[in-house]
Parts: sequence; C-alpha cells; structure tokens
Amino acid sequence: MMSFVARQFAHPHGPLGWLIGRGMARSNGDFSRWTVLQVQQHLKQPPRRIVEIGPGPGIGLEELRRRFPQAQVWGIDRSREMLRQSGRRNRSAVGAGRLSLVHGDVSAVRELGPVDLIAANHVLYFWPEPEQVLITMRECLRPGGLLALGYQLRRDMPRMAQKQFPREGFRLYDSERAVEVLLEAAGFEEITHRVKGPADRAEGRLSLAATGPAS
Ligand SMILES: C[S@@+](CC[C@H](N)C(=O)[O-])C[C@H]1O[C@@H](n2cnc3c(N)ncnc32)[C@H](O)[C@@H]1O
Repeated sequence: MMSFVARQFAHPHGPLGWLIGRGMARSNGDFSRWTVLQVQQHLKQPPRRIVEIGPGPGIGLEELRRRFPQAQVWGIDRSREMLRQSGRRNRSAVGAGRLSLVHGDVSAVRELGPVDLIAANHVLYFWPEPEQVLITMRECLRPGGLLALGYQLRRDMPRMAQKQFPREGFRLYDSERAVEVLLEAAGFEEITHRVKGPADRAEGRLSLAATGPAS
C-alpha cells in the first residue's frame, strides 16, 4: 500500500491521485509561493517566457502569473489529473491564453525554448537520469536564463518518503552540494541555495542556477 502511495507522488492518477493533489496544494502551497518570491527577488528583469515542470495542483503557476503578470506561462505535467487541478485553479489565465497546460514528460520543454525561467518543485526525485534532464533544461533556457529547482533533502522529508521513495527507485539528496554537483555537471553557473525555515527543520530548499551569457 505504501509503495502505491509513493508512486502516486511521481504520477498522481485516479481517486487517490485526486486526493494527493488536494493534499499537495495544502502542504506544498506555501513553499511553492515562497520559491516564486525568491525568484522575483533574484531576477533583475521580469521573465517573459516561463515553464513550470510538474506543477501538480497549480499553486506555483498561480503565483508565477501573479508575480509576473506580463509573462507567458506553460505548465508541463505527465499527470492528467494534475493538469485538471492546475487548470481549475488557473481557469481565467488558461481562457485568456496566458497559461498553457501541456500533457507530457519534462522533455516537452524542448518545444518551448528559448525561455527565461524554468521552475520545478519536488520533481527532481523522479528523474532517473537527472543530469540529462538538467542538460535539456539548460539547452531550452536563453543565455542568462534561470533554473529554479525546489526540493527537500532526505533528512527533512516525511518518513514515508524517506523509506519508500528509494524503494521505488526515486532519488533522494543528502545535501545541497549533491544537487549543486548535478547542476554543475549539466553546465549551469552561478549556483546559489536558499532555505525556507530553520536550516535544521527546513520546509524546503531552492537551488537557483543560471545559464552562461551568449557566446
Ligand atoms: C510531488 S508532485 C509536486 C507537485 C508540485 N510541484 C508541488 O510542489 O506541489 C510531482 C509532480 O511532478 C509531475 N512529474 C513527475 N515527473 C515528471 C516528469 N518526468 N515529467 C513531467 N511531470 C512529472 C507529477 O505528475 C506531479 O504532478
């Protein structure tokens, strides 16, 4: 049963997926909003083209639109249930053509580049080859573009995830440095990390990484 629940976080579907999406909106909502605030404070210019990978219930998309009202935003998720929840939460923006919801794997970002900002919260655990995914993202960002990767370290995760995620082949990270090594290997630069809440009981972490200038 626990392994079924763990797999739902990677790809929410069916009635349990619906419930998990509702739960994530509650439990991850503040973190999603906080990550967008960090990005806004970091950037010198507001991004015009933004992609969120794995938006789940769509709180991050809502906040991206609110803080960057001039931007065109895309959300890519492999879960149709999560796209439905994102769509309901952002109905007016979808109707106005400011937000597009794309059903697919993270690789669908290839169709959208070059973009100014790629955001992904609590998704990197589910990439079997994270370095390859990060290389794809870097290639889809414009020179000087920004990647905002939100996650939780193993020690700060709920017990269920600490135990079940590795059993399902999902990857957990023990330090910010472990994430930084991946980002460096994928060719990102100017990598910085931020923590939400106290460092010993973090509510989540955000790694910001830039692509180099145009050569
Ligand atoms: C744990 S949920 C996080 C949702 C949301 N970002 C949040 O922080 O509440 C992971 C989401 O990423 C999606 N996802 C996982 N792997 C993906 C992939 N390779 N491509 C696209 N979406 C993916 C899942 O369907 C799910 O909606």
